[in-house]
Amino acid sequence: MNSFIQLILNRRTCRAFSEKDVCESDVKQILDCALSSPSGMNLQTWSFIAIMNREKIQQLAQAVRKALNRDENYNMYNPSVLILTTNDKESRFREVDNACAMENIYLSCEALGLGCVWINQLKDCYDVPEVRKILTELGVPENHGVYGSAAIGYKLQESSPKQIKATYKIVK
Ligand SMILES: Cc1cc2nc3c(=O)[nH]c(=O)nc-3n(C[C@H](O)[C@H](O)[C@H](O)COP(=O)(O)O)c2cc1C
Repeated sequence: MNSFIQLILNRRTCRAFSEKDVCESDVKQILDCALSSPSGMNLQTWSFIAIMNREKIQQLAQAVRKALNRDENYNMYNPSVLILTTNDKESRFREVDNACAMENIYLSCEALGLGCVWINQLKDCYDVPEVRKILTELGVPENHGVYGSAAIGYKLQESSPKQIKATYKIVK
């Protein structure tokens, strides 16, 4: 089978990361893959911010935890890197465009031997003042929302194959 198709079929979400940090050259490749994603009308109104600092990631995670009243263990799975995918709140395709970028991030992580998990909570609290203050410090533009984030790190263990629930039809 084609090796890229094999990679797509094998990709799984990872929620347990080792202490080893991801290097900047890998992060840059992942960001290049995000920037190369398809976008509606090729608008590319998104931006991507990679936080390569565990302390800053946890500061953001704690603000999100408080904003959404999540339990004390909430830590975005304590990743080495968190990539925020942001977009203009007025952009017509903001959520679907960023979902395309998230998939490119997932697949590039898999290709680099890294684990990745989509963190969805920021879309529900990016304008809560305590969260927005941190996002602004991180460089998120004021007119942008956060429509998906990727927590990335070295996998603690390989995941088992997925049970496929849906099906497809071919009509001729
Ligand atoms: C839109 C979307 C939001 C998600 N949000 C979260 C999340 O907040 N936390 C989490 O642990 N996983 C999240 N996931 C990962 C899914 O739970 C995961 O993709 C699903 O269980 C299928 O597993 P797989 O990725 O290994 O195929 C999200 C995935 C998508 C597509």
